[in-house]
Amino acid sequence: MFNSKIFKIVVIGLSFLFSGNALSATLEDLVEARQGIMKLYAVNLDYLGDMLRERIPYNKKAAQDAADNLMALATFKSYTLWPEGSGMDNPQLRGKTWTKPELWQNKAEVSALQQELIKALEVTVYNAAWSLDGIQESLKDVNGVCNGCHKKYMAEK
Ligand code: HEC
Repeated sequence: MFNSKIFKIVVIGLSFLFSGNALSATLEDLVEARQGIMKLYAVNLDYLGDMLRERIPYNKKAAQDAADNLMALATFKSYTLWPEGSGMDNPQLRGKTWTKPELWQNKAEVSALQQELIKALEVTVYNAAWSLDGIQESLKDVNGVCNGCHKKYMAEK
């Protein structure tokens, strides 16, 4: 016999199941996720910086891990986090994103900067397990790329 109560429970259950689906990330979610990647860059970079400033002792394994993390972040396929129209000119994202709309008008230059970052990090990854001096030199290049991109494509908070 058909039990309408059970039917209702099943329908309600299914609608919950599908409303929680992973494809419903909002623009705000994407912005937070890309800012999360940036924060992870900063944390790992600062960690290496602290070794250089002798705030924490140089440790080969930890230096290698931080350099590897930076490389993983730089090669992470994050383009879905940067959809066209998700810059600070979007009223929905006012006070939430600091990405200038120019980023989407200069895609070739932005991806060249990303390649430059990967190159500088290749040297960092290589040097991390060898010497602090080597890290110091390559981190200057890494920092240069971070700052170069921010100057052009990120507004001051
Ligand atoms: C190709 C360009 C580009 C590169 C390279 C880049 N960034 Fe960013 N970064 C941005 C943009 C654009 C934003 C603004 C993101 C937003 O608010 O939507 C940002 C934001 C940030 C923020 C602020 C995050 C927050 O919580 O709002 C930090 C910290 C940061 N970047 C650190 C770094 C570090 C460290 C590096 C280098 C290892 C780096 N970035 C490399 C473009 C770049």
